[in-house]
Amino acid sequence: MAEYDFDVLVIGSGPGGYVAAIRAAQLGLRTACVESRETLGGTCLNVGCIPSKAMLHASELFDHAANGTMAKLGIKVTPELDLPQMHAQRVDAVKQLTGGIAFLFKKNKVEWIKGRGAFVDAHTVQVGERTVTAKDIVIATGSSVTALPGVTIDQKIIVDSTGALELERVPEHMVVIGGGVIGLELGSVWRRLGAKVTCVEYLDQILPGFDGEIRKESNKIFKKQGIEFKLSTKVTGVAVNGDKATLTLEPAAGGAAETLEADVVLVSIGRKPNTDGLALENAGLSVNQRGQIETGHRFETSVSGIWAIGDVIPGPMLAHKAEDEGIAVAENIAGLTGIVNHDIIPSVVYTWPEIAGVGLTEEAAREKGEVKVGKFPMMANSRAKTNHEPDGFVKIIADAKSDRVLGVWCIAVPGGTMIAQAAQAMEFGATSEDIAYTCHAHPTHSEAIKEAAMAVQGKPIHI
Ligand code: FAD
Ligand code: NAI
Repeated sequence: MAEYDFDVLVIGSGPGGYVAAIRAAQLGLRTACVESRETLGGTCLNVGCIPSKAMLHASELFDHAANGTMAKLGIKVTPELDLPQMHAQRVDAVKQLTGGIAFLFKKNKVEWIKGRGAFVDAHTVQVGERTVTAKDIVIATGSSVTALPGVTIDQKIIVDSTGALELERVPEHMVVIGGGVIGLELGSVWRRLGAKVTCVEYLDQILPGFDGEIRKESNKIFKKQGIEFKLSTKVTGVAVNGDKATLTLEPAAGGAAETLEADVVLVSIGRKPNTDGLALENAGLSVNQRGQIETGHRFETSVSGIWAIGDVIPGPMLAHKAEDEGIAVAENIAGLTGIVNHDIIPSVVYTWPEIAGVGLTEEAAREKGEVKVGKFPMMANSRAKTNHEPDGFVKIIADAKSDRVLGVWCIAVPGGTMIAQAAQAMEFGATSEDIAYTCHAHPTHSEAIKEAAMAVQGKPIHI
């Protein structure tokens, strides 16, 4: 009889956990996955990436119809919002995709153990009545919303991203606390559907972590689209009276307070790792100051045979980072060499246009040494111009001596798709000259990447 019930037990079925489980099973390991939700797929499929993109796509088309973009193309329409149907297609997308993971688990013979997992010891996890043992255990429990002290989320007037995806009517005035990715994506959804949206951001600029010029230009574009910003401002309290909320705001540097009325307040000030209730101490594990589980580059924790991946460990909280770590951890457990290059993880904000980047910001690159920078405006890209998509630019940062590409940033309608070629080029150690001399199909938005690379070389054609 086998010493353990399973070779691998994964806790959490988000993009980190479900991918790790499937890859481990593909490699011949007897695998199970513990998940407490009713459906598989974690934050990403249930309440994150997928439902937010369903609402972003639908609201984008509504906005094109309502605000004249389609009329410019010679299509006159007066759209009528059917919000229940918009929600129904979101729910359907989630149902299809979470069901797809259940199918993949069956196909790969991964057992889904339903319930919350807690460590008994380094090889044993308790799930409800069931005690499960495994040679290797992968913690992939993800993250949940960071609360604002003193502010209670009721999912009606004060909502987090989950509540903001499900609003039953378009708010008159939505105040978004936090000008990060969630605030801008979900603020954009409700702005497009007719809400007045005000975004309160503690820092002096939105989108922390993005390239400085990209942050400034994004701010301009969102303002043009009707989102109002209160930068360098902190929310010190939110009081609910009947069906309205009153926010108290103060300048971040201190000063006179002001109030702001809203009928929906979205709290989107970041996310924190999920480790509560895991009883990590029973396995000899602890968390760092930020509540994360630390691992080495193979994703093994300080306890041999316990591994961790995704939002629960340090690094950007992104689904594709979690997925790649899921593949790598399974390969490492199976005795192969699984590696993730954390220097090349693209980030995308799925607004219109999309905002995307990979590698170093110009600021970070300049701190490391001399750089060359090439830029190309989307206004000069023939496809973007033809499609009436003039906003944005591509920017490439290369090492001044070696010409090796250090970072690529763009604001462009299909920026999230365009950034993949930049990530691949950087993964292969490309120089800006390599990109400049790669033939790009015409007319495509991606030609702006080639032209930005030519600008690094000092010889763009179309500007
Ligand atoms: P999660 O997806 O959080 O999954 C963890 C799972 O573990 C959960 O299902 C949870 O129920 C389960 N779990 C936790 N503890 C236990 C336990 N003790 N026992 C059993 N089960 C447990 N990222 C992108 O890259 N692109 C996007 O477009 C994007 N959009 C987003 C939009 C929103 C609104 C939000 C909130 C997030 C978005 N993200 C996006 C981030 C992305 O969702 C996360 O980075 C990703 O889901 C992390 O994957 P994970 O596997 O680490 O954890
Ligand atoms: P975030 O970290 O992106 O942004 C939070 C913002 O809130 C920051 O700008 C911060 O300065 C600000 N802030 C913090 N406290 C504040 C306060 N008291 N008052 C005003 N502003 C305050 O976090 P967000 O948007 O909640 O997203 C969480 C995570 O989910 C991110 O790490 C992101 O990677 C992931 N995500 C990714 C998406 C994507 O890839 N497209 C989409 C949505 C979420």
